[in-house]
Amino acid sequence: KAADLKQIVAGGDGVGLRTYDNGYVNTTACKSAISYIDGDAGILRYRGYPIEQLAERSNFLEVSYLVVYGSLPTGGQMQRWTEAVMRHSALPVAVEQTIAALPHDAHPMGTILTGLCALSTLHPEQNPALAGQNIYNSREVQDKQIVRLIGKMPTLAALAYHRASGRKPAQPNQNLGYAENFLYMLDAGSHPGYRPNPRLARALDILFILHAEHELNCSTSAARHLASSGVDVYTVASGAVGALYGPLHGGANEAVLRMLQARGPDVRIGSVENVGPFLEGVKNRKERMFGFGHRIYKNYDPRAKIIRQVAEEVFAIAGRDPLIEVALALEAAARSDEYFVKRKLYPNVDFFSGLVYRAMGFPPQFFTVLFAIPRIAGYLAHWRESLTDPDTKIIRPQQDYRGEWLRGYQPVVARP
Ligand code: ACO
Repeated sequence: KAADLKQIVAGGDGVGLRTYDNGYVNTTACKSAISYIDGDAGILRYRGYPIEQLAERSNFLEVSYLVVYGSLPTGGQMQRWTEAVMRHSALPVAVEQTIAALPHDAHPMGTILTGLCALSTLHPEQNPALAGQNIYNSREVQDKQIVRLIGKMPTLAALAYHRASGRKPAQPNQNLGYAENFLYMLDAGSHPGYRPNPRLARALDILFILHAEHELNCSTSAARHLASSGVDVYTVASGAVGALYGPLHGGANEAVLRMLQARGPDVRIGSVENVGPFLEGVKNRKERMFGFGHRIYKNYDPRAKIIRQVAEEVFAIAGRDPLIEVALALEAAARSDEYFVKRKLYPNVDFFSGLVYRAMGFPPQFFTVLFAIPRIAGYLAHWRESLTDPDTKIIRPQQDYRGEWLRGYQPVVARP
């Protein structure tokens, strides 16, 4: 136990025994029953269900219920859950107005973050002063916050999508499926009567399933970190989405596309002939191969395998993206290159997803938003689990101080 380790005095400074674990590579930070990964075997399960089965047979709303509450819903639970999520899909006017004040060229991830923070100001049950009254932890309030966030994420994303054009998305259509309604909101405002292609809606729904949860990745750890302070769930979600934005994490799907494209002298691959020189740049550490490598997977990411199949289905409807040939050439070259083989670097979830999104007509800067929408389910599951775990403590790692020991203050005129 942490308290026992403190009793062991390792050096003269009396700090006790501590571990230095840069990047928490070997640190187990909590007990969890939400998802299981075997990175060597390329296995991912949500609540015990293999990701392949869920992608083939389930849908995102059912999976989000599973991830958050631990079991697949009964028919009645599924009906109530779907109705509740869709009923909470509209955004408060104050959120729309806050977003309207942002620059037109704001990155959509910044817009989503702003919307989530704005939500935290609008829900009185989230006032920390009420925590003492046991309102914050009531199961009923938590359930409402969960459907609110899952319901509002696509609407917030649709608003971010239209930010540059100044157009408003269509109001949510509660009779449509989750991914279907999201696609509807993007286009129905300017094309009355528009209905998304059901096969594209299903492809997006599968991608949502694959992105719903992934244990203690950078952003979910951030969610648990924030939750450990007792802050409200909207702030938890915005902090986590902030971590997701980074190019080494969820932002990698946008970075992959920019890596595959040629946009000028500073950039990147562009065509199959440039794959070799690009790989040399990676090996010389001048380039980073986005969409490759993973802290946990030392084998093919099982999500990338499924996305590769979904890509072909989307290309059959929307046209084959020529960049897929560049991506496949890159993957094949890496597979036979000792640098990648030795380090067990394989495609991760972000390698092919951007090509699917591009074929569906999304601009690259929107790709990480398409990751954030479903990952909210995972954040909520971890938030809820941490609230009910009696072992939860405020997360507060230790540092190894290497700075100046003791200095005396000098006024500015006396400084050399
Ligand atoms: N390209 C080139 N070399 C790489 C890559 C890569 N994408 N990933 C890892 N390596 C190399 C490292 O340089 C290191 O080599 P070395 O031992 O000679 O120094 C070795 O492989 C081990 O890599 P680490 O950096 O220790 O791996 P870590 O677990 O810290 O990082 C990460 C994982 C951040 C995902 C890394 O693989 C990476 O930067 N990938 C590209 C970004 C990306 O695709 N991120 C999305 C991940 S999935 C997700 O978050 C949703």
